[in-house]
Amino acid sequence: MCGIVGAIAERDVTPILIEGLRRLEYRGYDSAGVALVGDQAIDRVRCVGKVQALVDRMGEAPPRGPLGIAHTRWATHGVPAEHNAHPMVSQGRLALVHNGIIEDHEALKAELAAEGYRFDSETDTEVLSHAIHRALLAKGDLFDAVESVVHGLDGAYAIAAVDQAQRDALVVARRGTPLVIGIGIGEHFVASDVAALLAVTRRFIFLEEGDVARVTRSGVEIRDLHGEPVTRSVTESALDPDATSKAGYRHYMQKEIFEQPRVVTDTWHGLVSESRVLTAAMGPDAEAILPGVRSVTIVACGTSFHAGLVARYWIEAIAGVPCNVELASEYRYRKPVVADDTLFVTISQSGETLDTLAALRFARQAGYLATLGIVNVPESSMVRETDLSLMTAAGPEIGVASTKAFTTQLVALLIFTLMLAKSRGRLTEEAESTAVHQLRSLAAAIENCLLIDDTLLAIAERFADKHHALFLGRGVMFPIALEGALKLKEISYIHAEGYAAGELKHGPLALVDEDMPVIAVAPNDELLGKLKSNLQEVRARGGQLIVFADKQAGFESEDGVTVVDMPHADDLIAPIVYTVPLQLLSYHVAVLRGTDVDQPRNLAKSVTVE
Ligand code: G6P
Repeated sequence: MCGIVGAIAERDVTPILIEGLRRLEYRGYDSAGVALVGDQAIDRVRCVGKVQALVDRMGEAPPRGPLGIAHTRWATHGVPAEHNAHPMVSQGRLALVHNGIIEDHEALKAELAAEGYRFDSETDTEVLSHAIHRALLAKGDLFDAVESVVHGLDGAYAIAAVDQAQRDALVVARRGTPLVIGIGIGEHFVASDVAALLAVTRRFIFLEEGDVARVTRSGVEIRDLHGEPVTRSVTESALDPDATSKAGYRHYMQKEIFEQPRVVTDTWHGLVSESRVLTAAMGPDAEAILPGVRSVTIVACGTSFHAGLVARYWIEAIAGVPCNVELASEYRYRKPVVADDTLFVTISQSGETLDTLAALRFARQAGYLATLGIVNVPESSMVRETDLSLMTAAGPEIGVASTKAFTTQLVALLIFTLMLAKSRGRLTEEAESTAVHQLRSLAAAIENCLLIDDTLLAIAERFADKHHALFLGRGVMFPIALEGALKLKEISYIHAEGYAAGELKHGPLALVDEDMPVIAVAPNDELLGKLKSNLQEVRARGGQLIVFADKQAGFESEDGVTVVDMPHADDLIAPIVYTVPLQLLSYHVAVLRGTDVDQPRNLAKSVTVE
């Protein structure tokens, strides 16, 4: 989704801005732009398409200057077009980049238009740029002007603004979407994501909700949402600056799939000992809170929602606690009834997804026992705003389609389930030790899956010209089927649906014919017999079956049925292991179809609008 970079230095900041935009490319965007503040004017270049197109547009003589802002835009108000790309410039003087949505912008636009402001775009950002320009004329100072405007806004925003008449500062503000300030020596940087600035600094200030800051070459001045001066601490980022390279892989997504043996291990490391779960790792209050939990509500979006659906099977079966799983965008607009002693759990790779964050903020006022965040980005809002947290150690995930974040979320959720079961006296020492042992064997099981990559490539060739596909699973494998379908549709643009195999005859069977690949996830579990009957229904209609099955499950390849032999996976880790070949299958199908694997059309990595 939209990305912001800004810099103020003695040197020319254009290369810093461009490198920052490149590092934000993974978020997904459809246009890009940069504005440098010169002695006489603001020098702006914008274009539709990739950052490379922007660089090409700038040509041999790019704009130069020691103060500038830049942006990648993911269209919300107005189509992807150059006139809608940021930075927006008001009256040749004020340049602005903005992430988020200003909700009341129509009324403000009418007011500004009546005063003579002209609008060249359909964006809410241009409205904001004119509003700040108007305030600047009244107040004379950019910091005061931005502050006076943003505090009256309805909606979510992260902004960076520069004033051509005031070349010693850039001003930033945030509410609802993240913004960080990078600390240099005699220079400072701003960005919507630390990843953008890792080439120039490791030291960051994370602005808090409602903060407005004046950033100069020598310092940072922050006021909070009440207008009071505040100091925010400086954090050293633990992120490896090279963690965002492709390391020899063709795509980030491919690299991230192959990193899974390591990152699942990094995730359980520190959360379990040789044979026990370490509940205190969730936070100092965890051991006091968990025994009182009588039900669990999980709220998330996208792939993280699917992780929650898997966890429901575990939480109810292992911990004996009722569990609801909800889409954040639905949950926050319902009038949910909160049962006594319910733990509210959010799952999020980024820790910034707006719907999930808004649901969490609602939950904090709604009478839940406590809140737990299962999050991949340690510096994110969600970690700061939950009572307890379990970190996944996936490292930066660049591919828009989530892979390693999902499998590490499942690891964290399985460990959480064991902690909850243990605190309620539902877990024998033997069961705990068996579960931890399974987790410790997960990396090896995933390694074995990665070895069948060539087989999956051969199967992918049969998908390349298909328009539809159906993924089936039962029990805990049903959400894995949903996730398999989501991966395929996200990156290959093939319409894919995930279904509970038992539901097949209630609808999707009508779609099945010889042109419809049907993928089934069939570990050797207690529902295998039922699944086999469901698959017979597909065969009888000429459907082309691809079955991912344990060797012990007794499937044989035959005409119309391709069986992919899966390495044996113990019951608890099977959903995690069976995810991996589905990721690889989608990856190969997308490569064969020539789509943009890492940045699929219309999608964004971090969704910071509703
Ligand atoms: C976007 C991403 C998905 C992700 C979802 C939720 O749609 O493209 O990959 O699953 O957001 O993101 P979160 O960061 O909250 O897990």
